[in-house]
Amino acid sequence: MPNDSGFPARNPETPVNDPDTVQAALAGLLATPKTLPPKLFYDREGCRLFYQITELPEYYLTRAERKPLTEATRFLSEHLQAGTTLVEYGASDETKALGLLRAVGPSGRPLFRTYVPIDVAGPSLLDLTARLAETLPDLTVLPIQADFTRDIALPGEVTSGPALGFFPGSTIGNMEPDQAALFLRRAHTALGPQGRFLLGADLRKDKSILLPAYDDGAGVTAAFNRNLLVRLNREAGADFDQSGFAHRAVWNDDESRIEMHLVSQRDQTVHLARHAIRFARGETIHTENSYKHTPERIHAIAATGGWRPHRMWTDPEGLFAVYLLDRS
Ligand code: AVI
Repeated sequence: MPNDSGFPARNPETPVNDPDTVQAALAGLLATPKTLPPKLFYDREGCRLFYQITELPEYYLTRAERKPLTEATRFLSEHLQAGTTLVEYGASDETKALGLLRAVGPSGRPLFRTYVPIDVAGPSLLDLTARLAETLPDLTVLPIQADFTRDIALPGEVTSGPALGFFPGSTIGNMEPDQAALFLRRAHTALGPQGRFLLGADLRKDKSILLPAYDDGAGVTAAFNRNLLVRLNREAGADFDQSGFAHRAVWNDDESRIEMHLVSQRDQTVHLARHAIRFARGETIHTENSYKHTPERIHAIAATGGWRPHRMWTDPEGLFAVYLLDRS
């Protein structure tokens, strides 16, 4: 799912000197302070590394999301109208949706008749659709290849009936709060008058839990961060020396977010598309924000997007929340 805000997807490799990659990289590297857009994380190797991150002992999010998602699914089985459409934003695979797609209502009929996975990566959507044809042959799958941060028109048959938007994994935390509210506002419009929304969000917590999750002992997150430079060398003809940049995760308490940076280990010059980009020793490239909102902040963002919480589930330690949102 690389899109304008970033985020995981299985992306086919992009050609050398890809103009989009060059443009996106230059915009950030010529700015002060230097940045790179998180969408560049998710080339093939970035997706592989992200998957490894989700399996790390320090990356509590994966485990913490399971219980609230299971409880939300149980609640929806009892309360959601059978025949609802599930619309997943950033569906690079069906793993998280499967529990919902397999759920049955009180009548014993499947809760969801139709699944609309939205993702920018066409090949992963094709794979997902083929797999679901095998595992859930009665399910109608209507894949949409699109950047989910933009306006998306869903088919009339979806918007005229009950629809549940689904955005798990706390990808909402990788958006700036105003972007997150805009995304929810767009979903509010797209899902139609019977729309509801199931949102996963990692919560604010002590930095002793957060920092290792973004700077793990095995160095997988460091490799994920530095892979941006490998990608820019391959796709934008840059000459980054990977060993010249170190991974750093910082907790920014005022902004309530984890920041990822690549820190220049010395004074150096990197070339990219005929630009000489100078780095001072210690200067950083800011590569990602991962906001950890309080429940109050999530309520406020949801409200700006046109939603109000109907119900919330968390894991026993209160690390991660899954919200069922109603239209307000
Ligand atoms: C995709 N997203 C929810 C991840 C996160 O936790 O913010 C991306 C990530 N970055 C470093 N580790 C994981």
